[in-house]
Amino acid sequence: MKYSSWEELKENCLKCTKCLLCETRTNVVFGAGNIKAEVMFIGEGPGEREDILASPFVGKSGKLLESMLLDIDLDRNKNIYIANIVKCRPPQNRDPLPEEQELCIDWLRNQVALLKPKIIVAVGRIAAMKIIDPSIKITKDHGIFYKKKKIWMMPTIHPASILRNPSQKSLVAEDLLNLKEKILEICTHTYPKIS
Ligand code: URA
Repeated sequence: MKYSSWEELKENCLKCTKCLLCETRTNVVFGAGNIKAEVMFIGEGPGEREDILASPFVGKSGKLLESMLLDIDLDRNKNIYIANIVKCRPPQNRDPLPEEQELCIDWLRNQVALLKPKIIVAVGRIAAMKIIDPSIKITKDHGIFYKKKKIWMMPTIHPASILRNPSQKSLVAEDLLNLKEKILEICTHTYPKIS
């Protein structure tokens, strides 16, 4: 089923029972941000805070991501949209199973089809392998832009990984500078025009 309105898509996603994660979720985490954004961030799946608050990247790693994004003038309430591969929390924060990803991915595909982002940032290994290329090695390929179906896509290291290994923070900061450059090159309304 393909939905042509955002409201209809969201309404149906919130009722989803396609996989067993629906039995343990508190909330479906559909996504957050500006639905007219040119830049979309896609993570792997909601954690505990996200499940409770029904919003992506609001826990500890989300706060880190949020502050790093502000360094390149990206604000989750203004000029980006954030979603996940799976919309419901995998118990104990385990990785979403391949079959859960496959059953859920049509919601994300429909979000991308309606939003039409110019750039997608895949946050972490799981998202990068699912939406860019299964052969991606996040430690080697982060920060590189790939063009897929007319959308520029860049994998970056997950903020939860930075929390475990703080030396990765500078690598992600560099990826985000690459992202800023690409935005300045191809986006028209992500950054305010300076005249
Ligand atoms: N990690 C993710 O990949 N997504 C979230 O929404 C939160 C943490």
